[in-house]
Amino acid sequence: MKSKINLLLAGAVLCCLLALSCSKSNEATVSNPGNGGGGTPTPTCDTVNMQYTANVLPIIRTNCYSCHGNGVTSGGVSLDSYDKLKTQAASGKLLAVITHASGVPPMPQGGKLSDCDINKIRSWINRGMLNN
Ligand code: HEC
Repeated sequence: MKSKINLLLAGAVLCCLLALSCSKSNEATVSNPGNGGGGTPTPTCDTVNMQYTANVLPIIRTNCYSCHGNGVTSGGVSLDSYDKLKTQAASGKLLAVITHASGVPPMPQGGKLSDCDINKIRSWINRGMLNN
């Protein structure tokens, strides 16, 4: 008699679990189109074949030259030539400061580059920091 009740109970619990997992997966499929569908479009960031002159230099010129270019050498650092930028990139400093890694002053001072710009510079570094 007791074991029958136990069996019934186990069955009831199983039923509930099944029902729960079912309704959960339903929720997921229903809510997905609402989130992704007409929502914010995924921004695209082209990081393929990043080149110094075409891709990296404009970012550095816009965000860094006010303090590290045209004769200005904040912190003793100038970035206004390929060789100078490459020195910072090769040492790991460039990526460290723009990703706000610990142990280095975060750059650009008072702000942060967009993820896309950071990824472009990272990609250029990973391809060997070519002067192209
Ligand atoms: C508003 C001025 C300003 C801007 C803009 C700026 N920096 Fe700096 N940068 C500084 C100052 C000041 C220092 C020295 C800070 C220190 O040593 O604490 C510095 C230091 C550095 C250093 C040396 C860090 C070290 O540990 O030796 C690097 C590399 C650097 N900046 C890269 C950049 C890059 C790359 C950008 C653009 C993405 C940039 N900075 C934008 C002011 C600036």
